[in-house]
Amino acid sequence: MQVIILPLAHDVALYAADRVAEVINSKTNPVLGLATGSTPIALYDELVARYQAKQVSFRQTISFNLDEYIGIADSHAQSYRTFMNQHLFDHIDIAKSNTHVPLAESKDAIVLKKSAQDFEASIQQAGGIDLQILGIGLNGHIGFNEPTSSFTSRTRIKTLSESTVIANKRFFKDGEYQPHLALTMGIGTILNSRAVLLIATGKAKAEAVKVMIEGPLSAMCPASALQLHETATIVLDEEAASMLALKEYYRWCEQKRQQLHEGNVR
Ligand code: PGA
Repeated sequence: MQVIILPLAHDVALYAADRVAEVINSKTNPVLGLATGSTPIALYDELVARYQAKQVSFRQTISFNLDEYIGIADSHAQSYRTFMNQHLFDHIDIAKSNTHVPLAESKDAIVLKKSAQDFEASIQQAGGIDLQILGIGLNGHIGFNEPTSSFTSRTRIKTLSESTVIANKRFFKDGEYQPHLALTMGIGTILNSRAVLLIATGKAKAEAVKVMIEGPLSAMCPASALQLHETATIVLDEEAASMLALKEYYRWCEQKRQQLHEGNVR
C-alpha cells in the first residue's frame, strides 16, 4: 500500500482530483469507480471546478458507483443516484447514459440478483475499472461490504450493519424510511480495479484506518483486503493518520519516492 499523509482534508481532495484527472486525460475511454459519502464531496467539488475551468472533460468517461440502497427509487432524495447527480454528474459533461449506479429500486430478490449480475457484466463490457475511488466506514467497510464480507465477493445484496445504519441516519429525516439493505460491488469486484484510491479524513476514521493498513488481513476489516491490491493508494489527512504506528516511515517512503522521481536519490 502506498500511504500518503497530507495536512488537511482539502489537500486529500486535491490529491484525489489530480489522480482522477490523470486517468481521464491519459485514456480514450476512462472508466472511473466512484463512491458516495461525506468524504468524496470535496473531491467532486474540485472536479466540478476543474471542469468549469476547462482543465478536464468527462465526455468520454464511463463511471460505476460502488453501491445503492435497496427499495428506494433513483429519484429519492437519499438515493446514491441522486447524490451523484447533485454532487457531480449534473455539473460536468459526462453522458448520464455512461454513469452506472447499481439499480436497486426493486425489493424482489430475483430482480436484484439479475441487476447485480448485469452490473458486473457492464463493468466487464467497459473494459474494467481504471481507478476506483473509495471511502472507509467507521467499521472498516468499503462500499457496503460490511465486516465478514468475503474478499472474493462480487456485486450482491448486502445487509447493512447496525453501525452503518446509525452512521447514515443523519441523512434521513425523522421517521423517514431508511433502507437496511443495499446492492454493493463486492470486495472481489473492487480488487479487480486496475488501481484503487481510498481517501479518509478526520479523527473518527483513525481507528479504521489503522486496522486497514497495519492490522492483519481480516474479513472483520473489509478494507484490509486492499493490502492484496498491487496498486492501492491510501490518502489521509493528519487526523485520519493519527493512530498509525509507522506514520514516520510512510512519510519517509514518500520523500524517497519524490527524490527518485526527481532523479535525486539520497
Ligand atoms: P463517509 O462514509 O465518507 O460519509 O464517512 C464513508 C463510507 O462509509 O464508506
